[in-house]
Amino acid sequence: MRSSDLLHHERELLSSVVAETHCGRNRRAGKVRDLYARAGRVGLVSTDRLSAFDRAITTVPLKGRILNLLSEWWFAQTRDIVPNAVLAAPHPQLTVMRECRPLPLEFVVRGYLTGSTSTSLWTRYRAGERDFEGHSLPDDLRKNDRLPQPLLTPTTKGSLHDESITGAQAVDRGLLSAPEWERASAAALALFQRGTEIARRAGFVLADTKYEFGVDEGGTVVLLDEVHTPDSSRFWKAESLPGRLARGEEPESADKEYLRLWYADRCDPYHDEELPEAPDELRLELTRRYLHLYEEITGGHEIPFSVDEDPPHDLRAVLAEWDLLEE
Ligand SMILES: Nc1ncnc2c1ncn2[C@@H]1O[C@H](COP(=O)(O)OP(=O)(O)O)[C@@H](O)[C@H]1O
Ligand SMILES: [Mg+2]
Repeated sequence: MRSSDLLHHERELLSSVVAETHCGRNRRAGKVRDLYARAGRVGLVSTDRLSAFDRAITTVPLKGRILNLLSEWWFAQTRDIVPNAVLAAPHPQLTVMRECRPLPLEFVVRGYLTGSTSTSLWTRYRAGERDFEGHSLPDDLRKNDRLPQPLLTPTTKGSLHDESITGAQAVDRGLLSAPEWERASAAALALFQRGTEIARRAGFVLADTKYEFGVDEGGTVVLLDEVHTPDSSRFWKAESLPGRLARGEEPESADKEYLRLWYADRCDPYHDEELPEAPDELRLELTRRYLHLYEEITGGHEIPFSVDEDPPHDLRAVLAEWDLLEE
């Protein structure tokens, strides 16, 4: 269905949401994906959960499908740069991958000076930091300015809060080998360049993103997880950016920043225990933005959706076909 048609089916979209799957005993839940790993393969189900402020804050209709299919598209566009773990995307909400040993770092790449959490570049820059992974930033940059060149600012993974780390420190601590660091960091920068070019042609700025790499059975460094989705990246509308920055306004975002701002206007989302429930109109606005991004980036690909599907049932059948379920 074309997105313009999809958006006429608001009630069906809202009731089609998949917040959790329970297809087999081996289910493991990440923040947004449900994982089914078995015999060297892993099925990653993209649910419609939206994670913000360190919690699953709401669900967004079609989010799982849009992000899964967008990621699949980017994996295909970037496999000449670095091999990836994808085997197939046999359902709009499912990618089957080779299960790899993940490198315990998030490879964050930033093209713009932005963000608001403790490890964001803007927070660190505003606190006086100037040297990042061997690059020294000038003193006169403002929030959301473009950086002189993209910066790789890795963080550790797995701990409760991400912590900034340099490649040399990560190798010293034995988190990965020096050749693994060389390979993954070069791939991250090349991927970001490719992502920036493709996004720009589609009318978007890829402001920053993060990659996850792993090592396969043969010892090769491969790209895992997801690539250039609105969960892992900031996308801004290119057209309105210069005017907005000149007026001191925030960029027009095609990611979950819209929801973050909605909450920030109404509560203290990192500290309040109870947060207001996201209204349907806000959830559907995110669906619209994600769909728009997906269509512009992929050059008009459509999201498969029909009102009489039963997503949890269909997913279970495909996971079983791929022998990914433990009963
Ligand atoms: N090919 C793969 N092999 C092993 N683990 C993977 C692979 N691809 C992704 N992962 C892991 O699967 C999880 C994806 O689910 P997600 O909801 O993003 O989790 P998280 O809460 O850790 O971000 C991540 O922990 C990621 O590191
Ligand atoms: Mg994740």
